[in-house]
Amino acid sequence: MGRVATASEAPFLFILTKFVRIDSMREKLMKTAIYPGSFDPVTFGHLDVIKRAAEIFDELTVSVLNNNIKTPLFSVEERVKILEEATKDIPNVKVDSFSGLLIDYAKRKGVHVAIRGLRAITDFEYELQIAQTNRKLSEGELDTIFLTTSLEYAYLSSSSVKEIASFNGDISQCVPDFVGKLVYEKYGHIR
Ligand code: PNS
Repeated sequence: MGRVATASEAPFLFILTKFVRIDSMREKLMKTAIYPGSFDPVTFGHLDVIKRAAEIFDELTVSVLNNNIKTPLFSVEERVKILEEATKDIPNVKVDSFSGLLIDYAKRKGVHVAIRGLRAITDFEYELQIAQTNRKLSEGELDTIFLTTSLEYAYLSSSSVKEIASFNGDISQCVPDFVGKLVYEKYGHIR
C-alpha cells in the first residue's frame, strides 16, 4: 500500500488530483460534433458553417441524411463524394451518411452536439422545434449548437441553387465550380 501524504505534501497532491481530473474530463469531452443535413448539393453557405464549426470542434462529421421521402438531385453516395472533395483541405472534417433518427445516429457515434446553420428568422422556428425535439427524445444527450450563416450567404439554399441551375442560370456565386458543373450536368446543361 502507498505511503500517506504528509501535511506539507497535501496541497500539492490536491492540485495534482485536480489537474488529473480536468485532463481526463477534457479527454472525455473531446469536442466532436455532427453537422447533419441533406446537402443536395452543398453550398458556400454550408461550407462556411463547416469551416467555422471545424475551428470550434476537434472533430466534425458532416453527415448526409439518407431520406427516402425527398427525391434528391444527387444520390447519397454522390453527395458524400462531393462533400469529401469540398472539405478535403480541412483535416478534422469527416463525411458520413445516416438513415433514421439523428439522435440514434449520434448515440451510435457517441456524439452529443449537432451543428445547424441559421440563415434568417424563418429558419429559427423550424430549427428550434427540431433541436428541442432532439433534446427531449435523447433525454438531454443531444444538444444543438447554431451557427449564424455569414451574411453574404444568408440568401443561399440548395433548393434555389437547383431551381436556378434547372433554368441554366448562374450558380457560380452559390457553389464551388466543380459542384456547379455536376449540378448543370444533372439538368442536361453544358456550360
Ligand atoms: O439540410 P436539411 O434538409 O435542412 O436537414 C434536415 C435534417 C437532416 C437535419 C433533419 O431532417 C434530420 O435530422 N432528419 C433525421 C430524422 C430526425 O432525426 N428528425 C428529427 C426529429 S423531428
